[in-house]
Amino acid sequence: ATRAKMKAEETTDTHVAIFPCPAQGHVSTMLKLAQLLALHGFHITFLNTDFIHHRLHRFGDLEALLQTYPSLQFKTFPDGLPHHHPRSGQSAVDLFQYINLHAKPHIRHILLSQDPGKPKINCFIADGVFGALTIDVAHQVGIPIIHFRTISASCFWTYFCVPNLFQSNQLPITGDEDMDRVITCIPGMENMFRCRDLPSFSRGTGSEIVYALNSLALETRESLQARALILNTFEDLEGSVLSQMRLQFPRVFTIGPLHAHLNTRKESNTETTPSTSCVGEVDRRCMTWLDSQPLKSVIYVSFGSIATMTREKLIEIWYGLVNSKKRFLWVVRPDMVGPKENGDRVPAELEEGTKERGFIVGWAPQEEVLAHKAIGGFLTHSGWNSTLESLAAGVPMICCPSFGDQHVNSRFVSEVCKVGLDMKDVACDRNLVENMVNDLMDHRNEVFLNSAREVALLANRSVSSGGSSYSNLDGLIQYIRSISQ
Ligand code: UDX
Repeated sequence: ATRAKMKAEETTDTHVAIFPCPAQGHVSTMLKLAQLLALHGFHITFLNTDFIHHRLHRFGDLEALLQTYPSLQFKTFPDGLPHHHPRSGQSAVDLFQYINLHAKPHIRHILLSQDPGKPKINCFIADGVFGALTIDVAHQVGIPIIHFRTISASCFWTYFCVPNLFQSNQLPITGDEDMDRVITCIPGMENMFRCRDLPSFSRGTGSEIVYALNSLALETRESLQARALILNTFEDLEGSVLSQMRLQFPRVFTIGPLHAHLNTRKESNTETTPSTSCVGEVDRRCMTWLDSQPLKSVIYVSFGSIATMTREKLIEIWYGLVNSKKRFLWVVRPDMVGPKENGDRVPAELEEGTKERGFIVGWAPQEEVLAHKAIGGFLTHSGWNSTLESLAAGVPMICCPSFGDQHVNSRFVSEVCKVGLDMKDVACDRNLVENMVNDLMDHRNEVFLNSAREVALLANRSVSSGGSSYSNLDGLIQYIRSISQ
């Protein structure tokens, strides 16, 4: 048995239920938290929707996970959507609404269930995107609740500060001509954002935008009722925002980057983390391809698990990559673009260029890819997990955000960390992609690589013994024990 397994078997009387929003970026991150807590002797019940669980079973390494962590179990319930509903792109909104409307009785039932040989569930860690729903259930069943957010502290705090932005007339945005106005009144982030860097929900001028933003702020403020807040970030990255947040949230545990933290907490480095994909089968052939590429010569391209794009945009990006003459590894999920139309043929020069210098997969082992010595840059949609994975690996980024928190993250990467270029709100045509790729990989490569190395050092130090995230996880474990008596 591995040392991880032996340690996990020394279980305590603490039984934590963990409920993520049923989407890849949330499930995989909260599963890492589950593993970290299981390593420290907690019983864990992980709540999945049937749809996600089925996909984890199909594409992830569920068996390996359960074998490594015997104190971890899954319980599932339906998300209420028809099986063939896409649950990505715009349709992700339906999923959100269904969970909010229908999940409560299922969650309550699981929280109250008693499993033979296990203590009753005595702590609930829930995804704060379902703020009101989860606070409500926890209060009904009388179990202490902690919220976990998969977004950055900066984005969480921006959502929280929406009412202040309205009060000081910094919101709403009045139109396109207003997009470069600087936002001055978010404490800890004064002058960091322009209007265009706010979460995408702020865009637009109608009353429905005001309603949507206020709802988002209310949902975020539900976390004030949780006993504590866990964030996948680290103190050296977002210190000034975190100190402002702590005036409202006295118990914020920053324990990230979680993927790196899990690696340092597992005592044997030879052990690999089981894959937790619920999107598609990991295509490991790209690792063999990377092995044969020169040092820092490849740009990795991925737009996360839910972002979709038009076929025209895909072709423009493709031309940009091929014309840059750089080597590239590109994740094109089968559901990323709409169905092919008649006559939608890939131009021969793209196929040629890809054969010469590129590799396309449906789903990659991203953490491993970013850590590979052949990778020199990352063209990303700026999801927070991708951002953290790239920062921890010291890989500079071209940020091409599409929705939600991604606009905030791309600003953070380009202006605060200075480890990349922000491509937001520009026509994403082939020339722009080509120029940006060459800028990142050639002209400004040295500068970006140096800053990326510095940030990576801080990230990895934070999850090493004595680092802030490492100590905060110890603190979180003690805190959970104290409230779950
Ligand atoms: C969404 C939001 O965009 C993100 O900002 C939020 O924090 C969580 O929900 P997503 O769009 O999927 O997530 O992006 P991201 O947060 O970057 O997560 C994607 C995850 O999928 C990353 O952990 C990445 O390593 C993984 N991935 C992606 C793979 O393992 N293989 C791939 O081929 C592509």
